[in-house]
Amino acid sequence: MVGPGTGIAPFRGFLQEREACGHTGKNWLFFGEQHATTDFYYQEDIQRWQQQGLLTELSLAFSRDQGRKIYVQNLMREQGEKIWQWLEEGAYFCVCGDASRMAKDVDQALRDIIREHGKCDDGETVNYIRKLNMAKRYLRDVY
Ligand SMILES: NC(=O)c1ccc[n+]([C@@H]2O[C@H](COP(=O)([O-])OP(=O)(O)OC[C@H]3O[C@@H](n4cnc5c(N)ncnc54)[C@H](OP(=O)(O)O)[C@@H]3O)[C@@H](O)[C@H]2O)c1
Repeated sequence: MVGPGTGIAPFRGFLQEREACGHTGKNWLFFGEQHATTDFYYQEDIQRWQQQGLLTELSLAFSRDQGRKIYVQNLMREQGEKIWQWLEEGAYFCVCGDASRMAKDVDQALRDIIREHGKCDDGETVNYIRKLNMAKRYLRDVY
């Protein structure tokens, strides 16, 4: 789940449902906003889910808390090998939030991860994304 800014909204619902239903599969949330102190939406819920293990992985990108901007796709690239492993295990990749900048950059990061860690050429990368789309495993709600 990649949901910076207002993009967190559906993923809070996803995680609430998974908690209520007792689902045991792995979950990974990438969230980002400008400042941790003022913009960490649903912080208590998210941290509790991490402590309980419902969230297996939590990657936080607070863009303006340091000199150099950090965005969710920077953290994706750092964790590229693990993202590739999760995809190969059948992970669903869901993105919600800003369409004009974030979703485009996240899409590019995903393609770069597939190319690098899956050792795919350009055509194989396009095919991999196409297969994810056809299986409804690459889901985007962007605006
Ligand atoms: N119609 C409405 O009622 C409504 C309400 C809310 C939002 N929106 C629109 O929805 C879109 C999303 O807004 P949002 O409030 O969810 O937050 P956002 O503007 O997407 O910002 C959330 C975080 O994403 C960062 N960010 C900026 N560019 C990025 C990029 N290329 N890749 C990854 N992260 C990036 C921001 O960092 P920096 O700011 O530090 O660059 C910030 O830390 C915006 O276009 C906004 O105008 C509309």
